[in-house]
Amino acid sequence: MAWCFRNIRRHMCMLMRQNFAKSCESKLNDQINMELKACHQYLAMAYHFDRSDISSPGLHRFFLQSSAEEREHAEKIMKYMNKRGGLIVLSSVPEPLPCFASSLDALKHALKMELEVNQHLLDLHALAGEESDPNLCDFIEANFLQEQVDGQKILADYVCQLEKAHSDVGDYLFDKYMGAGMHTGK
Ligand SMILES: [Fe+2]
Ligand SMILES: [Fe+2]
Repeated sequence: MAWCFRNIRRHMCMLMRQNFAKSCESKLNDQINMELKACHQYLAMAYHFDRSDISSPGLHRFFLQSSAEEREHAEKIMKYMNKRGGLIVLSSVPEPLPCFASSLDALKHALKMELEVNQHLLDLHALAGEESDPNLCDFIEANFLQEQVDGQKILADYVCQLEKAHSDVGDYLFDKYMGAGMHTGK
């Protein structure tokens, strides 16, 4: 019965599907799952820095906001997938790294993760070009590429500033700078 409903649903999707290659559909699904993995990792980071023995409210807030943005990205692609007549396939989300030795370690990990996400977006854009899918190229360009580069610059700046500070006092001042007056204690 479930198989039957799946096939009917698939057929309904196909009715409005046009110039949308299976390879693009599959890579878009990978992108959705990458965004959700990043969402999960940022959430873990946010609550690591909220611990009472860490207490970095600025980083807590920053990573919480980052997590929400990644979920938004995943949902934006899911909405797009439905517009193109594709089928969304969510995979299980890998367990995130639970804790970090320092703010610098966490920010370096975030930058590495964003560079991987960006590479996947660039590969997706290249694939859309190969498959002559201008709509998908436009979707990626308009919604992701610039925002991705802007975000990476912010993370790289933070890494650089923390490397210069290079001490517990530096970490403390950096967190104050990030969260200046914004921590509500919630
Ligand atoms: Fe993202
Ligand atoms: Fe991101």
